[in-house]
Amino acid sequence: MDSVSTLLDSIDGVGRDARRGGYSRPVYSAAESELREWFTAEAGRRGLAVESDRNGILWAWWDVPGIGRRGSLVTGSHLDSVPGGGAFDGPLGVASALAAVDLLRGRGVQPNRSLAVAVFPEEEGSRFGVACLGSRLLTGTLDADRARSLTDADGTTFADASRAAGLDPAGLGRDDEALGNIGDFIELHVEQGRGLIDLDSAVAVGSFVLGHGRWRLSVRGQGNHAGTTLMADRADPMVAAAQIVLAVREAARRQDGARATVGRLTPVPGGTNVIASRVDLWLDVRHPDDAVTAALVETIHGKAQKAAAFEGCSVTLTEESFSGTVAFDPALQRGLANSLGGVPALPTGAGHDAAVLAGVVPSAMLYVRNPTGVSHSPEEYVEREDADAGAAALADVLEDLL
Ligand code: GLV
Ligand code: MN
Ligand code: MN
Ligand code: MN
Repeated sequence: MDSVSTLLDSIDGVGRDARRGGYSRPVYSAAESELREWFTAEAGRRGLAVESDRNGILWAWWDVPGIGRRGSLVTGSHLDSVPGGGAFDGPLGVASALAAVDLLRGRGVQPNRSLAVAVFPEEEGSRFGVACLGSRLLTGTLDADRARSLTDADGTTFADASRAAGLDPAGLGRDDEALGNIGDFIELHVEQGRGLIDLDSAVAVGSFVLGHGRWRLSVRGQGNHAGTTLMADRADPMVAAAQIVLAVREAARRQDGARATVGRLTPVPGGTNVIASRVDLWLDVRHPDDAVTAALVETIHGKAQKAAAFEGCSVTLTEESFSGTVAFDPALQRGLANSLGGVPALPTGAGHDAAVLAGVVPSAMLYVRNPTGVSHSPEEYVEREDADAGAAALADVLEDLL
């Protein structure tokens, strides 16, 4: 029987990023593959039967003889990370699920239905650009052809990366058999803002997830020589991009509850003495009201067109992904609250596989306090006692649902 912290300590060295700090564990990289192997071994140690499905989702089964897998209780999270991410976003939910299995067995729980721990690939979308890629494929909310053609920064397609990971790319896509096995899905996750600090609680039940999406703005100008091109003669997309970044902040500040971010920007070709010919900016916009999100993106697009035109450039906007605001299953939320007695409910601005699954199966979430209030950064943290409280809460919830 291992504590959550013991489990997380055992993968502490995997995917450490000396340059960025924290961890870089993109899907199907050496680091994330090592974590998948770690999970397979830990699940195996517990006598769980581990399988990968055709979308690369790992399932570790505690089968109840004679009952089968339809309508099982499923918990889990992901093992991939953002570039330079923290230790908890994803792995906390996986380690807590394993610890919860230990706790349930220690309590002598005899399940009335099978239980699976699931690990979803490419939750962050850090490598192929679309977050929750595994759960979107599973539920059919992302077209399989589009998924296969997504490319990473090196030009590797998701089809080729999947093949290298031992999958058949032709098999990617909605999987009714795997979906039919999920009766209820519960994801435990590190809280990613100040929510639980302010509520002074170690654990909360998720209420809803803000709608969010990603858009690519490509600003095109005239690539040229930094030394010979007079300032008056330039069509520099980097200058337009700088104005667009400011416009994004301004537009979001004027809209109550909105968050808008440019977290990635790529100049092409990208040389110190080269005026870029193109700059790509990736825009992340979130708001509880999907109509407001759409209007905000339109406003930003308009401002981007103006900024580009002023610099003699042009700009195109492409939607890469969008997920509307999702409320978790009300009955399941009530059930979790009853199992835990008196824990607060908390919305989040972070996306999760549980929110994608919520469109198809009853889903719910538990959050564990993050005392730094910082996430997608090496400073993300969970105290050992809170991690234990989270695993115990997950075990309580699972016990009541089994
Ligand atoms: C995932 O963590 C996201 O919300 O971007
Ligand atoms: Mn996560
Ligand atoms: Mn994340
Ligand atoms: Mn030269």
